[in-house]
Amino acid sequence: MSVEQTYTMIKPDGVRNGHIGQIITRFENAGLSIDRLELADVTEEQARANYKEHEGKPFYDGLITYITSGPVVKMVVSGEGAVAKVRTLMGATNPADAAPGTIRGDFGLIMDENVIHGSDSVASAEREIGIFFN
Ligand code: RTP
Ligand code: MG
Repeated sequence: MSVEQTYTMIKPDGVRNGHIGQIITRFENAGLSIDRLELADVTEEQARANYKEHEGKPFYDGLITYITSGPVVKMVVSGEGAVAKVRTLMGATNPADAAPGTIRGDFGLIMDENVIHGSDSVASAEREIGIFFN
């Protein structure tokens, strides 16, 4: 394992429902560092670039509409094995399947509004940091 940077973003429902502080606290309690942080709207261009792998899937249009529906908290987070660590803290994609104690398990209810995004690999992280912090 080595020190990595990952991209993570509190989605519009996480911001709207008041979970910013608790989510950042979980990252810090896990030993991760917050390298960059910004509250902002996601542009349609950023949304399409971030979710390019899902283009054409039945949920794609709804995903783009949703992620651009209100402000998000964009973050670059770093630490030993940060990519996998953040994914573990997030929990399963569908909050209905996410374990208690994970961010999605504790703060999410439905697949379409699942509180948080995190890069799924070091390569994705580099690409996504470039999209959101150019
Ligand atoms: P994310 O990219 O947002 O961190 O989520 P993820 O890696 O856990 O899941 P991914 O497969 O990349 O899916 C991206 C987002 O699309 C929505 N989704 N809906 N209805 C469906 O089958 C379905 N599959 C995915 C979710 O909101 C997911 O976060
Ligand atoms: Mg993903």
